[in-house]
Amino acid sequence: MTANIAPLTQCAAWKALEAHYPKVRELHLRQIFADDPNRGERMAAEAVGIYFDYSKHRITDETLKLLLQLAEESGLRAHIDAMFRGEKMNVTEQRAVLHVALRARKGQAIVVDGEDVVPRVHGVLDRMADFSNRVRGGEWKGHTGKPIRNVVNIGIGGSDLGPAMAYEALRHYSRRDMTFRFVSNIDGTDFAEATRDLDAEETLFIISSKTFTTLETMTNAHTARVWALKTLKHQAAIASHFVAVSTNADEVAKFGIDTANMFEFWDWVGGRYSMDSAIGLSTMVAIGKESFRDMLDGFHQMDEHFRTAPFERNLPVLMGLLTLWYNNFFGAQTVAVLPYEQYLNRFPAYLQQLTMESNGKRVSLDGTEVAYQTAPIYWGEPGTNGQHSFYQLIHQGTKIIPCDFIAFAQPLNPLGRHHDVLLANVFAQAEALAFGKTSQEVRADGMPEWLVPHRTFEGNRPSNTILLERLTPQALGKLVALYEHSVFTQGAIWQIDSFDQWGVELGKVLAQRIIPELEAKAEPKLEHDSSTNTLIRRYRKLRQTSP
Ligand code: F6P
Repeated sequence: MTANIAPLTQCAAWKALEAHYPKVRELHLRQIFADDPNRGERMAAEAVGIYFDYSKHRITDETLKLLLQLAEESGLRAHIDAMFRGEKMNVTEQRAVLHVALRARKGQAIVVDGEDVVPRVHGVLDRMADFSNRVRGGEWKGHTGKPIRNVVNIGIGGSDLGPAMAYEALRHYSRRDMTFRFVSNIDGTDFAEATRDLDAEETLFIISSKTFTTLETMTNAHTARVWALKTLKHQAAIASHFVAVSTNADEVAKFGIDTANMFEFWDWVGGRYSMDSAIGLSTMVAIGKESFRDMLDGFHQMDEHFRTAPFERNLPVLMGLLTLWYNNFFGAQTVAVLPYEQYLNRFPAYLQQLTMESNGKRVSLDGTEVAYQTAPIYWGEPGTNGQHSFYQLIHQGTKIIPCDFIAFAQPLNPLGRHHDVLLANVFAQAEALAFGKTSQEVRADGMPEWLVPHRTFEGNRPSNTILLERLTPQALGKLVALYEHSVFTQGAIWQIDSFDQWGVELGKVLAQRIIPELEAKAEPKLEHDSSTNTLIRRYRKLRQTSP
């Protein structure tokens, strides 16, 4: 895709941004806003029900023009078209990147290797809907004839974070008489705590793994089987208490799950882009097929916006470019994601995989080392909790941390003044970060001189405010797709493969080597570095003294 594109730092727009940056660095949002009373309305874009205010950014019209030019020069338009056409954008794994096909409407055609994949997507969605209905309606019975009341999704990474985040986000719409748990960590505590109060006769395990070989997931799945059989006694019980979501039918069968109880997805769905594939089965059981379809519709609306809207009004493109502006020119290392919505408490964790596994790369598509920073670190917590913990650093620390404030106009749990106060806080934080409080203002408050520097807020700290009407399944789909395509935008400009994840391999390989060394009865011969050898020996010794 980048064959005819110059190396990023050679692009005219990149060079122009480098020349432009020192001028912008000196500007203060206080002045920029004072000079343009309409900035707050002008520098906002609205699409598919998302209002995106980017006025509180350290940019001028010229900055925006150059960033948009950078997107053009980087061939972003061609990249977008290629993704939607099903081209093998995941170059190092030679795979298409088609999460957009998961939410394509019936009748739309997206062809991969000569096959229109949309009918297959809808075939699986129909099977998922049928299964969810049966579980929710009590027709799908456990081995002893009891209906299913508990659903435990076992998976990790993209096979966990999406479903876990979506369940929390859409809990308001979920079956309240059922329990949903998510086990991911190989730490036995995760499984033990998730199942300690569950009745195996009423529990369904969804084993979610694209490869069905992931160590954590398979270890937890085997433990789940032992746990279930302890109560249910008969191997035959597996059929009614275990289903699988995978691309790997052979491994599913080897594990002992009937492939009739397997929900399929495909290698063109990346793990971190899979929450609306069959990996979302637990979500569908929780919220029902209609709400799940609404969520997919939200994704689709954002896909279409991303595909068709001009870049200057294209929300994911704007968001991606602004992130890049701080990352590559201001030297910002992180982005804080701050949802003022309790139901989005897992959203930052979800975004960490989406953004950092996608764009945490150090070589470009042709294998040469990049000469610029790639993905920033994403982190965050729901407001207002973060305000009483780390916001101090964002306001008065020495680092520049662009923030994404996310808020919804209508509460799902209207309780007295809560929502107005919540929203007052989100608006106030963005305002305080941008405009701060000058030393003159502090003095005017009558502060003694020695306190003035401590009470001064420099301001000029950038943020997006993303405002939606209400957290619905559709809104969640739009929000997630906004970030997915923002990540795509950045990856395309950085000329990296946003869809592989080789960086997780080495640790996995080394763990496989260390496992037998920890489990060996006799003292093993260790041939690691001196630190690893010592840690292994110490662990083996300490373990023996445990109660
Ligand atoms: O951490 C690497 C990774 O491959 C992720 O990309 C993926 O989401 C996760 O592991 C789980 O993989 P699987 O679904 O194959 O178990």
